[in-house]
Amino acid sequence: MSEQRIRVIVTGAGGRMGREVVRMVMDDPELMLVAAVDPTNVGIDAGKLIGTEPCGVIVSDDLELSLVESRADVMVDFTTPHTVLMNTKLAIRHGVRPVIGTTGFSPSEIEELDKLSLEKGIGGIIAPNFSIGAILMMKFAAQASKYFPDLEIIEYHGDQKLDAPSGTAVKTAELISEVRKEHRQGNPIEHETIDGSRGGYYNGFRIHSVRLPGVFAQQEVILGGFGQSLKIRHDSYDRAAYMPGVNVAVKKSMELTGIVYGFEHFID
Ligand SMILES: NC(=O)c1ccc[n+]([C@@H]2O[C@H](COP(=O)([O-])OP(=O)(O)OC[C@H]3O[C@@H](n4cnc5c(N)ncnc54)[C@H](O)[C@@H]3O)[C@@H](O)[C@H]2O)c1
Repeated sequence: MSEQRIRVIVTGAGGRMGREVVRMVMDDPELMLVAAVDPTNVGIDAGKLIGTEPCGVIVSDDLELSLVESRADVMVDFTTPHTVLMNTKLAIRHGVRPVIGTTGFSPSEIEELDKLSLEKGIGGIIAPNFSIGAILMMKFAAQASKYFPDLEIIEYHGDQKLDAPSGTAVKTAELISEVRKEHRQGNPIEHETIDGSRGGYYNGFRIHSVRLPGVFAQQEVILGGFGQSLKIRHDSYDRAAYMPGVNVAVKKSMELTGIVYGFEHFID
């Protein structure tokens, strides 16, 4: 029975998302936690990280050794934008399928990872957002942008977030750009009296990143038309909201070749 379980290594296991992933993996009889990597919490049993009984998997800071020794099938990474590229390349090099939640990738980096995984004959998933509600928000916004091409994205996250705009905002902007006709909105001669006050520019529309303590993760897309506006908004309150998506991604990754970018590809 245990031979058929998907062997999972969690990188960033000591982090806020990583701990949720450790819990999700340990709770699913189809998955097996085989290694946990994080430069913090080294030497601690992964079970202790989530406040349960010891599970025999000790947190390490050596990803390469863990990849080799654990014979993992899948690596789930929720670390930092600075480390995720290196972690993902290392996993692919060792034939371990990446399921990546860490945000901050550039399109060329995703392309490079896709090429590497195709060469290795394995697949993986990079998703800036694994929550089903957020995916629907993105899809609905893209659908609405066909009819309301004037829009702005406002995303809200905690003040310690490293990248801006959020990966979800970038993904939303990309999905909108796939269906919204080329459209330059706003006054062509507007100017900012304070730099950055109109937000980041993306294909004719703007993205605004709010960073405040106490905020978890929210996004709204505001679409404006003559005499009306439409707001599409998603609020996440708890990291557990991402885990059903991560669980599906771990299982789906076993069937893929190449990198799928975006969890929306798994939701009809
Ligand atoms: N895709 C999604 O659905 C989703 C949802 C929430 C957060 N995120 C993203 O996940 C990432 C992590 O978020 P968080 O709130 O858990 O952050 P966090 O700071 O709580 O955790 C990050 C962890 O990574 C560890 N780490 C750093 N470098 C490492 C390395 N080289 N190897 C292994 N571990 C390393 C840190 O020690 C830390 O414990 C961020 O990029 C965030 O934007 C994605």
